[in-house]
Amino acid sequence: MDTLEKKLSETYKPGFGEFMSNIQVHHEKLWFAGQYQIWKLADFEIHEIMEIIEDIETYLAEREESKQIGMINPAIDSLTLAIQAENLPLFKSSFVNLTNTCNNCHRAVDFVFNKVKLPETPPFSNQDFSVQK
Ligand code: HEC
Repeated sequence: MDTLEKKLSETYKPGFGEFMSNIQVHHEKLWFAGQYQIWKLADFEIHEIMEIIEDIETYLAEREESKQIGMINPAIDSLTLAIQAENLPLFKSSFVNLTNTCNNCHRAVDFVFNKVKLPETPPFSNQDFSVQK
């Protein structure tokens, strides 16, 4: 039993910052998927964000900050509706709302210095957001 517990405690587990860096990438890709109206990609990206949030709830349940993570759900829900409706203006306003919620949580957990904003350029040069329509 002791060895099993020891083994478990030595199992690699991503930290909060790693999950967030991952969310950062999908937040950015999601924006460009929406801008280019590649709605299937937007749907994929928002599900990636949802999965990471679930992972935070599962693997970092003991972290005080995890108690606040639920505040993001209404913003995710309205963005999901905008994607399903393939509605660009609604997508934009919902994405702004999502981004504000990211910062609201950072403020709530004393990480206000990690400020996110609307992306300006696609994150990677090896992914084409423009041709898949
Ligand atoms: C629990 C509420 C919460 C929500 C909601 C949240 N974050 Fe975070 N975020 C944190 C915490 C806590 C950290 C600091 C993590 C650490 O300990 O390294 C963080 C850190 C970050 C970082 C810095 C990561 C690094 O290590 O460089 C980025 C970027 C980030 N968040 C992006 C986002 C984005 C984008 C969203 C919204 C889609 C979001 N966050 C929503 C709590 C939250």
